[in-house]
Amino acid sequence: MDREREQTAQSFGEEVVKVVRFRVQRFRPEEGKAYVQEFQVPVYRGMTVLDGLHYVRDNLDSTLAYRFSCRMGVCGSCGMFINGFPRLACQTQILELGSDTVDVRPMPNYPVVKDLVPDLGPLFEKHRTVRPYVIRDPRELEQPTGEFLQKPEELEEFLQFTYCIKCGLCLTACPTVATDPQYLGPQALAQAYRYCKDTRDAGMDERLKVAAGTEGPWRCHLAGACSEACPKGVDPALGIQLLKRLALLRRWRLKKPHRPAPLAGERTGVSRRPGIPEPPPPTVESEGSASS
Ligand code: SF4
Ligand code: FES
Repeated sequence: MDREREQTAQSFGEEVVKVVRFRVQRFRPEEGKAYVQEFQVPVYRGMTVLDGLHYVRDNLDSTLAYRFSCRMGVCGSCGMFINGFPRLACQTQILELGSDTVDVRPMPNYPVVKDLVPDLGPLFEKHRTVRPYVIRDPRELEQPTGEFLQKPEELEEFLQFTYCIKCGLCLTACPTVATDPQYLGPQALAQAYRYCKDTRDAGMDERLKVAAGTEGPWRCHLAGACSEACPKGVDPALGIQLLKRLALLRRWRLKKPHRPAPLAGERTGVSRRPGIPEPPPPTVESEGSASS
């Protein structure tokens, strides 16, 4: 290991454990073809694949393109295909991969913008179509008089799906998405279920028209790869099956949509909890919907 690399690792206050070969897929749109480039990266304990890419960019090739922001598994922007599995680069420790080679490629099933940067447009397009927000009477959203009431057991029904960070790794893992671009995919379908089950929502039927349509859960082949890949412990495969059940029960009129949760002031005189500040007046035009 050369002295410069050793110093780089030591600048993090860590001792270099070994040197690992990074095999990184490169792609420049102007050239139109992908190729693999190798880099030698000194690794210290706790170093992540994202740290390794920073090392390459800062010391070996400043043209390397990749996406990241939070560095702590929250923003969902550093999804990559690492040693053949979809992972977040900032959550993947190099030494835990147990290999002297780290193979890094852009996420499959997405167009590539440059090097390791995927175009996540298809993910967000599909997400948008299932109306992933609480649908209510616009007047209640624009001039709220209290919070929407929800019991802990009602929240429990969909809580795990709220942990989705929209990284898109589940679409990368899904074999159906790989062969069927029309399929809405695990992320959007799990979110459709999440909002249909939210007792504050009044838009179940509206949402199901799209989410349980021909491009919806019926196309799932039950591979379960989406849930294995999810870095946040969400189980989108379960969400898809629950969405199927919900859609069938609604179609056969065996289930009524829930009455949307009342505002705090409307139920038996319950008032706002002490200490909860009044909501600010609306500052932008509302389209009758609110994210949650
Ligand atoms: S369900 Fe999991 S893998 Fe899919 S986008 Fe959400 S956090 Fe990522
Ligand atoms: S950089 Fe935000 S999740 Fe990895």
